Amino acid sequence: PDDLTPRRRPRPTPEPAEPSEPGEGGAPGASDTFENAPDTDPAVAASRAWAAEIVSRDPAEAGAPRTVPLTTTAQVDEVVARAARLAPGWAGTAPSVRARVLRAAARHLEAARADLVAAMVHEPGKTVAEADPEVSEAVDFAAWYAGSAERLDPAHPEAVPGAVFEPRGVTLVTPPWNFPVSIPAGGVLAALAAGSPVIAKPAHPTPRCFEVVVDAIRAALAECGADPDVVQLVRVADGEGEDAPGRRLVTHPDVERVVLTGSIETARLFASWRPEREVLAETSGKNALVVTPAADPDLAVADIVRSAFGHAGQKCSAASLVILVGAAGDRRTPTGARLRRQLVDAVGSLAVGLPTDPGAVMGPLTEPAEGKLLRALTTLDPGERWLVRPRPLDDDRLWTPGLKEGVAPGSWFHRTECFGPVLGVLTAETLDEAIDLQNAVDFGLTAGIHSLDEDEIDHWLDRVEAGNVYVNRHITGAIVRRQPFGGWKASVVGPGAKAGGPHYVAQLGAWRDALAPD
Ligand code: SER
Repeated sequence: PDDLTPRRRPRPTPEPAEPSEPGEGGAPGASDTFENAPDTDPAVAASRAWAAEIVSRDPAEAGAPRTVPLTTTAQVDEVVARAARLAPGWAGTAPSVRARVLRAAARHLEAARADLVAAMVHEPGKTVAEADPEVSEAVDFAAWYAGSAERLDPAHPEAVPGAVFEPRGVTLVTPPWNFPVSIPAGGVLAALAAGSPVIAKPAHPTPRCFEVVVDAIRAALAECGADPDVVQLVRVADGEGEDAPGRRLVTHPDVERVVLTGSIETARLFASWRPEREVLAETSGKNALVVTPAADPDLAVADIVRSAFGHAGQKCSAASLVILVGAAGDRRTPTGARLRRQLVDAVGSLAVGLPTDPGAVMGPLTEPAEGKLLRALTTLDPGERWLVRPRPLDDDRLWTPGLKEGVAPGSWFHRTECFGPVLGVLTAETLDEAIDLQNAVDFGLTAGIHSLDEDEIDHWLDRVEAGNVYVNRHITGAIVRRQPFGGWKASVVGPGAKAGGPHYVAQLGAWRDALAPD
């Protein structure tokens, strides 16, 4: 039927690079038409219909207004007191009971899939294609951490004899807006698995997303006979003053642990507010993909574009640098010329639009660009040159993607996380030089290499400094259990066990040695 036929919105024409070579920097065939073969696959039609239903929901229902009231400082105290009252009871539940709650949460989150996707479309502006896997990740966290809870039981076959896990009281979970469902869900579920009541504080652009997550988890608690207030949602206004509710929450003496995913600046602020008290944080990244002459260029370009421009580059895991090694970075060689042309064409032809536009591949910024991102989108430093110049579109959150070459080692763009759709290209003579450039940043979150040469891959794996390293794969979208997620260096604060890995829940308690005498 006509209403299911994909329509592509007119694509923005990227600014041509100056001075352009034939086939470089301009829009590839801006006037081309989209001639899809008629779709007869019922699964494709069903999934299109589903996506169309999601994006057509009333934003007022799906998430645009802030439905969670702001909490005052006095209310913060009440919420923490309630959590602290519930803490001994929740800590005393058997790990198997907590596991049951988490498995029920997996079901409730799955049942809320459409509401969660709709909230992500209408709050942070995720495309359906980006939002849908995020729900799956939340469900995966629930199932995986249920198993983690069971492994805390001293009777579990894998338990270390004599090691007794003790829950540690109230946890504050304060996630980011860029993954407003999976990261909040993971944080809450891990704390629950570890026997801690949770106070859930949404990032200010995405309260509705966290509200739907919390509703699902509270429904699971109620279904299993537990008090739903073991998880409480609070929304506090920004503000750092002594009496600000957010600061009160972070510094409250009865909040045993703060789990933050956010910027390095926020992590440092929280740590300064709670000296010598626990803050676990996963922070920023300045992540690079290395491409050697032994790469498959088709695969490399597809993975670079996905890593750099998924959710408009607003991922801590996103690639914001590509480092081309040897001939791969030399446009006078066939390898270098091909790679460069393909990359320019791919970036220049990305269809940009609001997520309610079925043709949009890259969605909007969650909030209008400012600060570091605005500088990155609008300014070139010495030696840099646009291959594809980013342009603002009619909505102030919409930018076309940017690609620049000539990023100098040690320059501002080489070292600064900008959190948006700008990708910089560096070149290196050798793989070792490329790894030095990759490692020469404060952060160590994700990193990738594209090469089909086993020796190159092994050497890179030995030397690269990042928590999540990917070979011949895009560098975003870690999969629970298979690719536990977390950083090194300034990307992590606290013990640093990785989210979705075998040790994450176990780090959230105290281990008491109860060995019997020999
Ligand atoms: N886990 C996300 C990813 O891998 C980032 O938080 O992209």
